[in-house]
Amino acid sequence: MSSKRTPEDYVFHEKLGQGSYSTVFRAVERNNSARNYAVKVCSKKHIIQERKVKYVTIEKDLLNSLGRGGHPGIVQLFCTFHDAESLYFVLEYVSGGELLNLLRRTGPLPETWSRHLFAQLVDTVDYMHSNGVIHRDLKPENVLLSQEGRIVITDFGAACSIANTVQDRSASFVGTAEYVAPELLLYSQCGLGSDIWALGCILYQLTQGAPPFRGDNELRTFEQIVALDYKWRLPTIPQVVTLVQSILVLDPLLRPTSKQLKEDPWLASVKWNIKSTLWKGIWE
Ligand code: ADE
Repeated sequence: MSSKRTPEDYVFHEKLGQGSYSTVFRAVERNNSARNYAVKVCSKKHIIQERKVKYVTIEKDLLNSLGRGGHPGIVQLFCTFHDAESLYFVLEYVSGGELLNLLRRTGPLPETWSRHLFAQLVDTVDYMHSNGVIHRDLKPENVLLSQEGRIVITDFGAACSIANTVQDRSASFVGTAEYVAPELLLYSQCGLGSDIWALGCILYQLTQGAPPFRGDNELRTFEQIVALDYKWRLPTIPQVVTLVQSILVLDPLLRPTSKQLKEDPWLASVKWNIKSTLWKGIWE
């Protein structure tokens, strides 16, 4: 795409999702309706009112560096533009909806499904972390599913690059209560380990149907998190229990890294390279 786009270049269809200062619509190009896009529309007024200008700028920069087809697990960004009221992100359309909705429909997933989805999440987070990016809001709502069962991580609106964490964006809670890491609640710290914590919560949720920490209100949820107060609801294979237990520890430095997760015995049967070759076939 060479010349700058405008909203008139697209026909907007149904709403796909809603954030605090943005709405995502399915859209097609006016001149070529064969391909769907997900266009995220951010209200300039809200962004300014809620002091999020820096966040959308970071989201754009990170997606430009990570989401240009560098990894199939990161939502692709095709272009951005703006008009008087809004900023627009033209993103890859992922047709299977949110992982959250799959979990709501099916409840706990069988082990093979959990492993398939978790392995892709680990592989994608490993790519992000290798590129110095912390997502900071990993949760089943931000994980989309393609028709062929591929996961795509979206919503980098809370993300930051490692270089900026300590000085810049560590002090405030930006995630979602159920998946927020204890170090953010206790010490206002947020690093790579905070994404790993969220992966542990997601793995628990894949196998149990609900996140490990969920109180009647946010405060109760936070209390459960810092007390590591969670219980297994369903019979679960010991390897998964051990893996989740190794992740859900208070000290982020004691959690496995994304590279160590790829070596976990429960994921021993995953063909990491074959899978990425398969993705290459689909994407290149
Ligand atoms: N909802 C939010 N982002 C989306 C995307 N990229 N594709 C489909 N649905 C979405």
